[in-house]
Amino acid sequence: MVVLGTRPEAIKLAPVILDLRAHPQQFRTTVVATGQHREILDQALSLFGIEPDDDLGVMTRRQTLDQITIRILRGMREVLERLGPEVVLVEGDTTTVLAAGLAAFYAKITVGHVEAGLRTEDRYNPFPEEMNRRLAGSLAEIHFAPTPAARANLLAEGVDPRRIFVTGNTVVDALRDIARRPAPLPEKIEAALAEPGARLLLVTAHRRENWGRPLQEICRALRDLAARHPEARIVYGVHPNPVVRDTARAILGRTPRVHLLDFPPYSVFVSLLQRADLVLTDSGGVQEEAPALGKPTLVLRTNTERPEGVEAGVAKLVGTQRGTIVREASRLLEDRRAYAKMARAANPYGDGRAAARIRRAIRYHLGRQARRPADFAPR
Ligand code: UD1
Repeated sequence: MVVLGTRPEAIKLAPVILDLRAHPQQFRTTVVATGQHREILDQALSLFGIEPDDDLGVMTRRQTLDQITIRILRGMREVLERLGPEVVLVEGDTTTVLAAGLAAFYAKITVGHVEAGLRTEDRYNPFPEEMNRRLAGSLAEIHFAPTPAARANLLAEGVDPRRIFVTGNTVVDALRDIARRPAPLPEKIEAALAEPGARLLLVTAHRRENWGRPLQEICRALRDLAARHPEARIVYGVHPNPVVRDTARAILGRTPRVHLLDFPPYSVFVSLLQRADLVLTDSGGVQEEAPALGKPTLVLRTNTERPEGVEAGVAKLVGTQRGTIVREASRLLEDRRAYAKMARAANPYGDGRAAARIRRAIRYHLGRQARRPADFAPR
């Protein structure tokens, strides 16, 4: 049973679901959506041609963490009793992961955690994700660590090495799949980019710990950048969360050369990423996708659980202060050498074969395959 609730989980579990389903002689696969997200979850799943078998439909407007947790626990109990899976797979660090993992544990069902072992070592940052993934790690019996560094984090916490498999991150599988069938950009964006000398700055920012003042600073920095660099075309893919949307619209709604796109489909986002000159983001997934395409990335956070991009030189942590963001982005726009130094494709996060490794690791764990799958080794 694969359980997912938000858009990033849909994108990162889609390759796993498709791979499991391509091996019906090995697994019977059922997909449960918690519906923690509604529109953007459905949108992401449909891109991969996946329809959930069950949907708990938990989302409400301005939902709180405790409400989502309670509704998922209650809903999961019923589907687990009805379907009795042997293994429950969850991905990442959302409330869906925590609540679905806990429900499976209560039912004494093996939990497999995809994207295991990411850590910032700061329990409130990102909030509540750092705690969610720690707790998911305690609930899980099989850990699919995307990178050797994630494996090392788990080992340091005393996880049995026999239960850890380094698989690469499935986001690279998804990115390659979607990049093969690129989506056209919205017309007004295409027109803006066709102007001579135009350079695309692609932005996403939505994290809970950036709500309020930090997000306002980020938006003001974007306004400054648009004013200072007439060649810049800023495209901000805005999350449907009303807290985020209202702030973005209030500060940037009428700024020339700034385009607010309401949660573009993942296929459009990938097209934008391929065209981007510079990426500014507080998202986890984008930090993994941008290096794969060699896009210089400014991370709008003070810490990250994904240090590999920074180590590879393609990402840089710049925080959320207006002045710093403007300075760092301007430097990359003005200084060719500094830009070229960051614009190097690296694949620290995966090689596009993570889903198959996860399937084989599950078989190995269940004793249905004798040979342990080889770990992903970044080059
Ligand atoms: C959640 C995850 C976060 C992940 C993000 C990706 C948790 C704690 N956080 O944060 O890790 O990076 O998803 O998107 O699980 N909404 C809609 N339609 C949608 C989706 C959301 O209207 O399709 C609105 C609703 O008003 C909802 C609000 O967004 O109440 C917040 O959603 P929620 O899942 O609580 O938190 P996110 O900020 O999306």
